[in-house]
Amino acid sequence: MSAAEAATSTLFDVDAIRRAFPILDQQVRGRRLAYLDNAATTQKPQVVLDALVRYYQHDNANVHRGLHTLAERATEQYESARDRLAEFVNARDRSEVIWTRGTTEAINLVAQCFAQSELKAGDAVLISELEHHSNIVPWQLACERSGATLRWIPLRDDGTLDLSDLDALLQGVRLVSVAACSNALGTMHPVREIADAAHAVGAAVLVDAAQATVHQRMDVQAWDADFVAMSGHKAYGPTGIGALIARRSWLERLQPWHGGGEMIETVTLEGSTWNEVPYKFEAGTPNIAGAIGMAAALDWFDGLDHAALLKHEQALLAATVAGLGSIHGLRFIGTAPVKAPIVSFVIDGVHPQDLATLIDQSGVAVRTGHHCAMPTMTRFGIPGTVRASMACYNSFQDIQQLIDATETAAEILS
Ligand code: ALA
Repeated sequence: MSAAEAATSTLFDVDAIRRAFPILDQQVRGRRLAYLDNAATTQKPQVVLDALVRYYQHDNANVHRGLHTLAERATEQYESARDRLAEFVNARDRSEVIWTRGTTEAINLVAQCFAQSELKAGDAVLISELEHHSNIVPWQLACERSGATLRWIPLRDDGTLDLSDLDALLQGVRLVSVAACSNALGTMHPVREIADAAHAVGAAVLVDAAQATVHQRMDVQAWDADFVAMSGHKAYGPTGIGALIARRSWLERLQPWHGGGEMIETVTLEGSTWNEVPYKFEAGTPNIAGAIGMAAALDWFDGLDHAALLKHEQALLAATVAGLGSIHGLRFIGTAPVKAPIVSFVIDGVHPQDLATLIDQSGVAVRTGHHCAMPTMTRFGIPGTVRASMACYNSFQDIQQLIDATETAAEILS
């Protein structure tokens, strides 16, 4: 163990954290599992699994509809989960939290509402070259529908955004949408700086927080974002649940995007009126168990020592870069100075898919491909990368296993 590893391991008890995640204690292909695909989805601690089972075993009922005891219990837990999320992200008010299926649905909600009433020919939407497809395609659709133009903040060679022409790019822009942290390269973006510049020209700001949720303290007010999209499953919670946190004035102004039960106040044969926010944007029976599970995950995550966690993650990142960096022909894609523990790399002359297949033989789970960020891969002239992404339960043993597996694979394939 290096001095840096020793310093962080005394502050942060990874072994205790790992014990909270039963899935980690298994062998894959005859080897200890090293799960390093956390940017795709994180594992779930036992307390989250327990919360889901408890809900279905004891309290399952539809929310906001029944007067019976189970319906009251389900509603109480579901709305408490909304309170928990509002507190976690430092929302201005609980009514700013809309449950969605995840980040993708949250961004689509805003994009479709904007296409309907906010965007018109001559307007522009500004995103970056480093976005996930879920923060590109909804805007392409919205621009097609409204006649607005899509613009891009360019990407520098190190994987940071080139903001030198931001003021010019912002001319005529109605909304700026950027990730706080890139899923493909790990770059953390200066969200507040971008939001201030956008607001100065009257543009709204959406922050895709899917990756950032567990790698920095979320604070929608510090970001001064009008909209923030996030997913439960990237933050130790279940899949199929996430949220849009939106400034109330925007929620009052935008029209609903889905129609159905829950989102109405009155329905007649002639037309309908809308429920108050946030329910106006929550048509149909929601993912009640998912919301409760997500709140349990946030509770669990909040119990960690976050200063120590960030140090641990940065030490894992440094160990990964140092170890992989010594492999002949290996090139990192994305070397930004401020990065989450997400490492993308290629090896000259080796297809990333072959590399990842061999790495899996060593019990190491990494993702390979374009990471739903094809414009980023195009920018770097590559088909894809191998990506290792860390979470709070990753140990230096996981990193060593990755380095050894990559070394072996590189020798076989080169
Ligand atoms: N957005 C997920 C990833 O980066 C799926 O892998």
